[in-house]
Amino acid sequence: MATTFPPGPSDWTFGVSLARGLKYRLIETYENLHRDYGDRVYCRIGPIRLYFFFHPDDVREVLVTHSKTIIRDPRPLRVFAQWNGNSMLIAEGEQWVRQRRLVQPAFQSRRFAGYAEKMDVGINALKQTLAADIARTGHADVDIDQTMTALTLDIICQTLFSTDMKSHTEEIRRAVATLSEIAFVEMQAPFIWPLWLPTQWNRRKKKAMRVMDEVVWEMVRQRRRENVDKGDLLSMLLAAVDDEGDGGSLTDEQVRNESMTLMLGGHDTTAAGLDWLWLLLAKHPDICERCRSELQTVCGNKAPTFTDLPALTYLNAVVREALRIYPPAIGVFLRKATEDVTIAGYEVPKGSLISLSSLVTHRDERWFPDPHRFDPDRFLPPRVDSIPHGAWFPFGTGPRVCIGQSFAMTEMMLIAGNLLRSFRVSLVPGQPEPVPVVTAALRPRDSLWLRFEPV
Ligand code: HEM
Repeated sequence: MATTFPPGPSDWTFGVSLARGLKYRLIETYENLHRDYGDRVYCRIGPIRLYFFFHPDDVREVLVTHSKTIIRDPRPLRVFAQWNGNSMLIAEGEQWVRQRRLVQPAFQSRRFAGYAEKMDVGINALKQTLAADIARTGHADVDIDQTMTALTLDIICQTLFSTDMKSHTEEIRRAVATLSEIAFVEMQAPFIWPLWLPTQWNRRKKKAMRVMDEVVWEMVRQRRRENVDKGDLLSMLLAAVDDEGDGGSLTDEQVRNESMTLMLGGHDTTAAGLDWLWLLLAKHPDICERCRSELQTVCGNKAPTFTDLPALTYLNAVVREALRIYPPAIGVFLRKATEDVTIAGYEVPKGSLISLSSLVTHRDERWFPDPHRFDPDRFLPPRVDSIPHGAWFPFGTGPRVCIGQSFAMTEMMLIAGNLLRSFRVSLVPGQPEPVPVVTAALRPRDSLWLRFEPV
């Protein structure tokens, strides 16, 4: 067995500068490590052994081959557990298997036609708002992050919880933004201050957690009171019996935890993905035109529906390409080896941390030539065949792959297809180039203003 370490920075400050880089300039630091040391990088931060793997084969080794022994690093999970409880996102081993099994039926393909109908309701409401603005001023200028977050939140509440949250949208949006920011800072911190300490930080955190807690508990309690099966995720969770396992059901606390995870995970990352998709479309009118022409061929004069999606291959490639250049969930791939494992021929000792970066692998010119170019054709035959397995993983891969992957792809395609048919999109004049920052998701740092006009 190989006992050598991959190359990497070996400064006398024991990785302090690297730790600072990961904290303050995450994207740049990953890109520099890859450029300077290659596909496999090793370094120490104090007592911690840290490996970076950027090669697609290694991504699969970590996430697929060794998925049982390489688990999510528990440290960042403590942060998310503060508001998610011990949900599917946090759990490991048998407990995770059980929770995932109980939630999985909500993501069976037969449910998607129904979800898509509810998605259409939210999308049509947005189209009407944009049309009303256009009728007044000739165009609609929108803060795209606010607009997409409100839309995806509305969609997740309507589809999985049959609940209208419109009156709380802004409050929830602010709470989620606060929790995302807090999550990113606390994930880097050596410890988390106890919540009872009356610091300003804790006050903000408690307020945001209270908003989310009240919203989710109210949904769970109301459904218990009503005692009706609405055929959605919430009814499913409340009635769930683990037939394949212990035959038990979920407590209200567990239903609350899973609901919280799905409400947060189910809208925030998708909204971030849509922010970048719209930015790229605004900069590429030719690609928008090709989408419209495909929509016309496939759907005629009607809006795209769920049954049209398999035929919209170019639109699908457009969404995939946006998720390649800007993978929204880049902070989730920090893992820990629970046993000695061998990856890419290197012996990785038990206890080591292993980091992957979808952003670096997605922007590697060996797998994606001219990687910064928005070029959806790379996801169409024949070029798509030359993309190696493990080179594109915005949703992860292996057993812990995102449970909402098909949901998100359906949602993004319906939103993009519907709006592109009716509107041209461009940057509002004077809008500076957005700077990506990593909080819980990869987002534009400042407000990104886009202009919608009639086609
Ligand atoms: C563009 C949108 C989305 C992206 C990029 C995304 C990405 C991801 C990634 C990278 C993971 C972690 C994989 C890993 O750790 O190996 C994940 C996990 C997860 N995602 Fe998503 N996601 C998206 C949308 C959604 C939606 C719409 C839902 C729910 C409706 C959802 C629910 C979850 C859950 C519950 C997990 C944890 C799964 C587990 O640990 O078993 N996500 N997602």
